[in-house]
Amino acid sequence: MATATAWPLQGGDIKTIEWKDSWTSLTGISEATMRAHWKLYEGYVGKWKEAETKLAAADLTTANQIVSEWRALKTDITFAIGGVKNHQLYFDHLGGDGAAPTGWLADAIDKQWGSFDKFKADLKATAIAGRGWAWLAFDWETGKLGTYLGDAQNTFPVWNATPLVALDVYEHAYFADFGTDRPGYIDAFFANLDWNVVIETAEMFEIQKRFGA
Ligand SMILES: [Fe+2]
Repeated sequence: MATATAWPLQGGDIKTIEWKDSWTSLTGISEATMRAHWKLYEGYVGKWKEAETKLAAADLTTANQIVSEWRALKTDITFAIGGVKNHQLYFDHLGGDGAAPTGWLADAIDKQWGSFDKFKADLKATAIAGRGWAWLAFDWETGKLGTYLGDAQNTFPVWNATPLVALDVYEHAYFADFGTDRPGYIDAFFANLDWNVVIETAEMFEIQKRFGA
């Protein structure tokens, strides 16, 4: 059996985030929802590690595009990685008062959409049209911000774009609090969004420099 002995066990180096009690007092999104949602995040972390461990032990010579262990693991690990990264963004930027961003990001949004309200309408529509996620991301090649739709943890990101806002619209994120009222949940998401965290994330990647700041 040939195994991927050089497989980088990234799972051992996954940067996880810590639970914050401030997530128990959000506007409209209940503590029960947030605690249950956090357990799902922890599950994704475990599955990322599990997938890497299994890949390290899998037989390379049985890889097959129709049915194979290698195909299943290579596909499913992206679901786990997406589940970790998406949720880290989601949790991290909740806990704010929803006040609109200021500074270079406000200017960039105004330039791209015409106004903050038009941007919110775009992201809300994208989140209503999606089956799992909606993101605001910066594309390093076009130098522009854009909204993107995801049907699952691993669809449909594009290369060389960095997500800055992650809006979870899986039903586990809102059904206990809002039932089928997804638009109401999206409004609550915006009301709890901390744009300072979004700006910190963007500035960690020095995205502000692309907007002259
Ligand atoms: Fe989720």
